[in-house]
Amino acid sequence: MRRGSIVRITIYGVLAGILASVVAVLVPWLPTSASKEMDRIEFTFWFTTVICIAVFAVVAAAIVYSVLKFRVQPEDESDGPPIHGHTGLEIVWTAIPAVLVTAISVVSAIVLAKNDNAGANPLRIAVTAQQFAWKFEYPGEAKVTSGQLVLPVDQPVKLTLRSVDVIHAFWVPEFGQKSDAVPGIETTLVITPTRVGEYAVVCTELCGLGHSTMRGSVRVVQRREYDKFLADASAGASENPGETVFASEGCGACHEFTPAGTDSQVGPSLDAIQPTGGKPLEEFIRESIVEPDAVIAAGFRPNVMPKTFNQTLSDEQLDDLVQYLVDGQKGRK
Ligand code: CUA
Repeated sequence: MRRGSIVRITIYGVLAGILASVVAVLVPWLPTSASKEMDRIEFTFWFTTVICIAVFAVVAAAIVYSVLKFRVQPEDESDGPPIHGHTGLEIVWTAIPAVLVTAISVVSAIVLAKNDNAGANPLRIAVTAQQFAWKFEYPGEAKVTSGQLVLPVDQPVKLTLRSVDVIHAFWVPEFGQKSDAVPGIETTLVITPTRVGEYAVVCTELCGLGHSTMRGSVRVVQRREYDKFLADASAGASENPGETVFASEGCGACHEFTPAGTDSQVGPSLDAIQPTGGKPLEEFIRESIVEPDAVIAAGFRPNVMPKTFNQTLSDEQLDDLVQYLVDGQKGRK
Protein backbone atom coordinates (compact mmCIF):
# COMPACT_ATOMS: atom_id res chain seq x y z
CA MET A 1 0.00 0.00 0.00
CA ARG A 2 1.27 3.46 -0.82
CA ARG A 3 2.10 5.94 1.94
CA GLY A 4 -0.59 8.34 0.76
CA SER A 5 -3.25 5.66 1.24
CA ILE A 6 -2.10 4.88 4.77
CA VAL A 7 -2.23 8.59 5.65
CA ARG A 8 -5.76 8.84 4.22
CA ILE A 9 -7.03 5.75 6.07
CA THR A 10 -5.53 7.09 9.29
CA ILE A 11 -7.24 10.46 8.86
CA TYR A 12 -10.64 8.78 8.23
CA GLY A 13 -10.11 6.63 11.33
CA VAL A 14 -9.18 9.57 13.53
CA LEU A 15 -12.21 11.57 12.30
CA ALA A 16 -14.57 8.64 12.92
CA GLY A 17 -13.04 8.15 16.38
CA ILE A 18 -13.45 11.83 17.27
CA LEU A 19 -17.06 11.83 16.05
CA ALA A 20 -17.95 8.74 18.10
CA SER A 21 -16.11 10.13 21.16
CA VAL A 22 -18.05 13.38 20.96
CA VAL A 23 -21.33 11.44 20.91
CA ALA A 24 -20.17 9.30 23.84
CA VAL A 25 -18.94 12.18 25.99
CA LEU A 26 -21.31 15.05 25.22
CA VAL A 27 -24.61 13.18 25.49
CA PRO A 28 -25.53 12.58 29.17
CA TRP A 29 -26.22 8.86 28.75
CA LEU A 30 -26.11 8.03 32.45
CA PRO A 31 -27.23 9.85 35.59
CA THR A 32 -24.46 11.21 37.79
CA SER A 33 -23.24 8.40 40.00
CA ALA A 34 -24.15 8.43 43.69
CA SER A 35 -22.74 5.08 44.77
CA LYS A 36 -19.51 3.08 44.67
CA GLU A 37 -21.30 0.36 42.72
CA MET A 38 -22.41 2.85 40.08
CA ASP A 39 -18.81 4.09 39.80
CA ARG A 40 -17.71 0.56 38.94
CA ILE A 41 -20.58 0.10 36.50
CA GLU A 42 -19.60 3.39 34.82
CA PHE A 43 -16.02 2.17 34.57
CA THR A 44 -17.24 -0.97 32.82
CA PHE A 45 -19.33 1.11 30.43
CA TRP A 46 -16.41 3.37 29.59
CA PHE A 47 -14.01 0.44 29.21
CA THR A 48 -16.44 -1.11 26.71
CA THR A 49 -17.18 2.20 25.00
CA VAL A 50 -13.48 2.96 24.38
CA ILE A 51 -13.04 -0.47 22.78
CA CYS A 52 -16.17 0.06 20.67
CA ILE A 53 -14.98 3.47 19.50
CA ALA A 54 -11.59 2.01 18.47
CA VAL A 55 -13.24 -0.82 16.52
CA PHE A 56 -15.72 1.62 14.96
CA ALA A 57 -12.87 3.93 13.87
CA VAL A 58 -10.99 1.09 12.14
CA VAL A 59 -14.10 -0.25 10.38
CA ALA A 60 -15.34 3.21 9.37
CA ALA A 61 -11.90 4.14 8.00
CA ALA A 62 -11.72 0.96 5.89
CA ILE A 63 -15.26 1.49 4.54
CA VAL A 64 -14.83 5.19 3.71
CA TYR A 65 -11.46 4.56 2.04
CA SER A 66 -12.85 1.64 -0.01
CA VAL A 67 -15.98 3.50 -1.07
CA LEU A 68 -13.95 6.45 -2.33
CA LYS A 69 -10.92 4.60 -3.73
CA PHE A 70 -12.57 1.62 -5.43
CA ARG A 71 -15.57 3.49 -6.78
CA VAL A 72 -16.62 2.12 -10.15
CA GLN A 73 -15.96 4.47 -13.06
CA PRO A 74 -18.93 5.65 -15.18
CA GLU A 75 -19.55 3.31 -18.13
CA ASP A 76 -17.46 0.57 -16.47
CA GLU A 77 -19.68 -2.49 -16.54
CA SER A 78 -17.05 -5.16 -16.11
CA ASP A 79 -17.16 -7.63 -13.19
CA GLY A 80 -14.80 -7.15 -10.28
CA PRO A 81 -11.79 -9.49 -10.12
CA PRO A 82 -12.49 -12.84 -8.38
CA ILE A 83 -10.82 -12.61 -5.00
CA HIS A 84 -10.12 -15.47 -2.64
CA GLY A 85 -10.23 -14.69 1.08
CA HIS A 86 -7.15 -13.55 2.97
CA THR A 87 -6.37 -16.09 5.71
CA GLY A 88 -3.95 -13.83 7.58
CA LEU A 89 -6.46 -10.99 7.69
CA GLU A 90 -9.22 -13.33 8.83
CA ILE A 91 -7.12 -14.65 11.70
CA VAL A 92 -6.36 -11.09 12.79
CA TRP A 93 -9.95 -9.90 12.70
CA THR A 94 -11.09 -12.95 14.64
CA ALA A 95 -8.32 -12.94 17.22
CA ILE A 96 -8.42 -9.24 18.15
CA PRO A 97 -12.19 -9.12 18.85
CA ALA A 98 -11.91 -12.41 20.78
CA VAL A 99 -9.30 -10.82 23.04
CA LEU A 100 -11.35 -7.64 23.44
CA VAL A 101 -14.60 -9.48 24.25
CA THR A 102 -12.76 -11.64 26.76
CA ALA A 103 -11.33 -8.51 28.39
CA ILE A 104 -14.84 -7.01 28.67
CA SER A 105 -16.13 -10.26 30.20
CA VAL A 106 -13.33 -10.35 32.77
CA VAL A 107 -13.85 -6.70 33.78
CA SER A 108 -17.63 -7.24 34.01
CA ALA A 109 -17.23 -10.38 36.13
CA ILE A 110 -14.91 -8.56 38.55
CA VAL A 111 -17.31 -5.61 38.83
CA LEU A 112 -20.31 -7.91 39.35
CA ALA A 113 -18.48 -9.77 42.11
CA LYS A 114 -17.38 -6.54 43.80
CA ASN A 115 -20.85 -5.00 43.52
CA ASP A 116 -22.30 -8.06 45.26
CA ASN A 117 -19.90 -7.84 48.17
CA ALA A 118 -21.21 -5.76 51.06
CA GLY A 119 -18.12 -6.24 53.20
CA ALA A 120 -18.03 -7.58 56.74
CA ASN A 121 -20.57 -5.37 58.45
CA PRO A 122 -23.17 -3.82 56.17
CA LEU A 123 -26.27 -1.98 57.31
CA ARG A 124 -29.11 -4.41 56.64
CA ILE A 125 -32.43 -2.95 55.53
CA ALA A 126 -35.45 -5.03 54.58
CA VAL A 127 -37.36 -3.79 51.55
CA THR A 128 -40.93 -4.92 51.00
CA ALA A 129 -42.54 -4.28 47.64
CA GLN A 130 -46.27 -4.43 47.18
CA GLN A 131 -48.79 -3.04 44.74
CA PHE A 132 -47.91 -0.12 44.58
CA ALA A 133 -45.56 1.00 47.27
CA TRP A 134 -42.23 0.39 48.95
CA LYS A 135 -41.70 -0.24 52.64
CA PHE A 136 -38.32 -0.09 54.37
CA GLU A 137 -37.50 -1.69 57.72
CA TYR A 138 -34.40 -0.68 59.62
CA PRO A 139 -32.35 -2.81 61.99
CA GLY A 140 -32.50 -2.13 65.71
CA GLU A 141 -34.72 -2.51 68.73
CA ALA A 142 -37.27 0.11 67.68
CA LYS A 143 -38.26 -1.74 64.46
CA VAL A 144 -38.50 1.52 62.55
CA THR A 145 -40.24 1.35 59.18
CA SER A 146 -40.63 4.08 56.61
CA GLY A 147 -42.06 4.75 53.18
CA GLN A 148 -39.01 6.78 52.18
CA LEU A 149 -35.64 5.05 52.28
CA VAL A 150 -33.06 6.89 54.38
CA LEU A 151 -29.41 5.86 54.07
CA PRO A 152 -26.23 7.12 55.73
CA VAL A 153 -23.58 8.22 53.24
CA ASP A 154 -20.42 6.09 52.72
CA GLN A 155 -21.93 3.09 54.50
CA PRO A 156 -22.28 -0.23 52.66
CA VAL A 157 -25.94 -1.25 52.77
CA LYS A 158 -27.37 -4.66 52.05
CA LEU A 159 -31.01 -4.51 50.99
CA THR A 160 -33.11 -7.64 51.32
CA LEU A 161 -35.94 -7.50 48.81
CA ARG A 162 -39.27 -9.22 49.28
CA SER A 163 -42.61 -8.93 47.55
CA VAL A 164 -45.97 -9.72 49.08
CA ASP A 165 -47.87 -9.98 45.79
CA VAL A 166 -46.38 -9.86 42.27
CA ILE A 167 -42.91 -9.26 40.85
CA HIS A 168 -41.57 -5.74 41.31
CA ALA A 169 -38.05 -4.41 40.76
CA PHE A 170 -36.03 -1.98 42.86
CA TRP A 171 -33.96 0.58 40.98
CA VAL A 172 -32.36 3.88 41.85
CA PRO A 173 -30.73 5.12 38.62
CA GLU A 174 -28.00 7.05 40.49
CA PHE A 175 -27.07 3.88 42.44
CA GLY A 176 -26.80 1.72 39.33
CA GLN A 177 -27.77 -1.50 41.08
CA LYS A 178 -31.11 -3.07 40.24
CA SER A 179 -32.88 -6.21 41.40
CA ASP A 180 -36.27 -7.89 41.15
CA ALA A 181 -38.42 -8.40 44.24
CA VAL A 182 -40.04 -11.79 43.69
CA PRO A 183 -42.79 -13.30 45.84
CA GLY A 184 -41.58 -16.37 47.71
CA ILE A 185 -37.87 -15.69 47.45
CA GLU A 186 -35.46 -13.20 48.92
CA THR A 187 -33.13 -11.23 46.70
CA THR A 188 -30.39 -8.87 47.84
CA LEU A 189 -28.79 -5.71 46.58
CA VAL A 190 -25.65 -3.96 47.81
CA ILE A 191 -25.42 -0.19 47.73
CA THR A 192 -22.75 2.13 49.12
CA PRO A 193 -24.06 5.69 48.72
CA THR A 194 -21.36 8.27 48.10
CA ARG A 195 -23.33 11.46 47.56
CA VAL A 196 -25.78 13.18 49.90
CA GLY A 197 -29.08 13.97 48.18
CA GLU A 198 -32.52 12.73 47.30
CA TYR A 199 -33.12 10.25 44.49
CA ALA A 200 -36.09 8.39 43.04
CA VAL A 201 -36.79 4.74 43.71
CA VAL A 202 -38.35 3.33 40.56
CA CYS A 203 -40.25 0.07 40.12
CA THR A 204 -39.04 -1.40 36.83
CA GLU A 205 -41.28 -4.44 36.56
CA LEU A 206 -44.76 -4.02 35.09
CA CYS A 207 -46.73 -4.92 38.22
CA GLY A 208 -50.28 -3.74 37.60
CA LEU A 209 -52.48 -0.71 37.20
CA GLY A 210 -50.42 1.49 39.52
CA HIS A 211 -47.00 0.44 38.20
CA SER A 212 -46.18 3.83 36.75
CA THR A 213 -46.94 5.47 40.09
CA MET A 214 -44.89 2.98 42.09
CA ARG A 215 -42.20 5.47 42.87
CA GLY A 216 -40.59 6.10 46.17
CA SER A 217 -37.62 8.13 47.17
CA VAL A 218 -34.34 7.62 48.91
CA ARG A 219 -32.59 10.24 50.98
CA VAL A 220 -28.84 9.90 51.49
CA VAL A 221 -27.78 11.79 54.61
CA GLN A 222 -24.83 12.19 56.97
CA ARG A 223 -24.48 9.54 59.66
CA ARG A 224 -25.69 11.74 62.53
CA GLU A 225 -28.74 12.76 60.51
CA TYR A 226 -29.48 9.08 59.90
CA ASP A 227 -29.25 8.34 63.63
CA LYS A 228 -31.55 11.29 64.29
CA PHE A 229 -34.03 9.97 61.71
CA LEU A 230 -34.12 6.59 63.46
CA ALA A 231 -34.58 8.20 66.87
CA ASP A 232 -37.32 10.55 65.63
CA ALA A 233 -39.07 7.75 63.78
CA SER A 234 -39.21 5.50 66.83
CA ALA A 235 -40.47 8.43 68.91
CA GLY A 236 -43.02 9.43 66.25
CA ALA A 237 -44.29 5.86 65.98
CA SER A 238 -45.52 5.99 69.55
CA GLU A 239 -46.95 9.50 69.13
CA ASN A 240 -49.15 8.91 66.09
CA PRO A 241 -48.99 5.23 65.24
CA GLY A 242 -51.74 5.48 62.59
CA GLU A 243 -49.76 8.02 60.60
CA THR A 244 -46.72 5.77 60.75
CA VAL A 245 -48.69 2.78 59.46
CA PHE A 246 -50.18 4.91 56.67
CA ALA A 247 -46.71 6.06 55.59
CA SER A 248 -44.86 2.77 55.95
CA GLU A 249 -47.55 0.71 54.22
CA GLY A 250 -47.46 3.11 51.30
CA CYS A 251 -51.18 3.98 51.39
CA GLY A 252 -50.29 7.42 50.01
CA ALA A 253 -48.89 5.86 46.83
CA CYS A 254 -52.47 5.33 45.65
CA HIS A 255 -54.71 7.48 47.85
CA GLU A 256 -55.21 11.17 48.42
CA PHE A 257 -55.29 11.93 52.15
CA THR A 258 -54.75 15.53 53.15
CA PRO A 259 -53.54 14.92 56.74
CA ALA A 260 -50.74 12.75 55.31
CA GLY A 261 -50.01 15.21 52.50
CA THR A 262 -50.64 12.69 49.70
CA ASP A 263 -52.57 13.33 46.51
CA SER A 264 -52.33 10.23 44.32
CA GLN A 265 -55.44 9.32 42.33
CA VAL A 266 -54.88 5.62 41.65
CA GLY A 267 -57.49 4.76 44.28
CA PRO A 268 -60.37 6.78 45.73
CA SER A 269 -59.65 9.79 47.92
CA LEU A 270 -59.67 9.12 51.66
CA ASP A 271 -60.46 12.70 52.59
CA ALA A 272 -64.23 12.31 52.74
CA ILE A 273 -65.10 8.64 52.87
CA GLN A 274 -68.80 7.84 52.26
CA PRO A 275 -69.77 4.51 53.82
CA THR A 276 -72.31 2.48 51.83
CA GLY A 277 -75.01 0.16 53.06
CA GLY A 278 -75.60 2.18 56.20
CA LYS A 279 -72.38 0.95 57.78
CA PRO A 280 -70.72 3.03 60.49
CA LEU A 281 -67.69 4.89 59.14
CA GLU A 282 -65.16 3.01 61.24
CA GLU A 283 -66.49 -0.40 60.27
CA PHE A 284 -66.60 0.59 56.61
CA ILE A 285 -62.99 1.77 56.65
CA ARG A 286 -61.82 -1.41 58.34
CA GLU A 287 -63.65 -3.56 55.79
CA SER A 288 -62.20 -1.55 52.90
CA ILE A 289 -58.67 -2.18 54.16
CA VAL A 290 -58.87 -5.90 54.83
CA GLU A 291 -61.33 -6.71 52.04
CA PRO A 292 -60.74 -4.03 49.39
CA ASP A 293 -63.14 -5.48 46.82
CA ALA A 294 -66.14 -5.66 49.16
CA VAL A 295 -67.24 -2.21 47.99
CA ILE A 296 -65.76 -0.55 44.92
CA ALA A 297 -66.08 3.21 44.75
CA ALA A 298 -67.69 4.57 41.57
CA GLY A 299 -65.14 5.08 38.81
CA PHE A 300 -62.61 2.61 40.25
CA ARG A 301 -61.82 -1.01 39.50
CA PRO A 302 -61.62 -4.12 41.67
CA ASN A 303 -58.39 -6.14 42.03
CA VAL A 304 -56.16 -3.10 42.21
CA MET A 305 -55.65 -2.69 45.94
CA PRO A 306 -53.69 -5.53 47.57
CA LYS A 307 -55.74 -7.97 49.61
CA THR A 308 -52.80 -8.71 51.86
CA PHE A 309 -53.26 -6.13 54.62
CA ASN A 310 -55.24 -8.70 56.57
CA GLN A 311 -52.03 -10.69 56.99
CA THR A 312 -49.38 -7.98 56.94
CA LEU A 313 -50.93 -5.65 59.52
CA SER A 314 -51.19 -6.59 63.18
CA ASP A 315 -54.56 -6.00 64.88
CA GLU A 316 -53.02 -3.06 66.68
CA GLN A 317 -51.67 -1.51 63.47
CA LEU A 318 -55.05 -1.96 61.82
CA ASP A 319 -56.83 -0.25 64.74
CA ASP A 320 -54.33 2.63 64.62
CA LEU A 321 -54.72 3.05 60.87
CA VAL A 322 -58.53 3.01 61.03
CA GLN A 323 -58.46 5.58 63.85
CA TYR A 324 -56.06 7.79 61.87
CA LEU A 325 -58.36 7.71 58.83
CA VAL A 326 -61.49 8.34 60.91
CA ASP A 327 -59.82 11.33 62.62
CA GLY A 328 -58.68 12.74 59.31
CA GLN A 329 -62.12 12.93 57.65
CA LYS A 330 -62.92 16.40 56.33
CA GLY A 331 -65.28 18.24 58.62
CA ARG A 332 -64.19 16.36 61.70
CA LYS A 333 -62.13 17.93 64.46
CU1 CUA B 1 -44.17 -2.48 41.20
CU2 CUA B 1 -44.06 -1.93 38.89
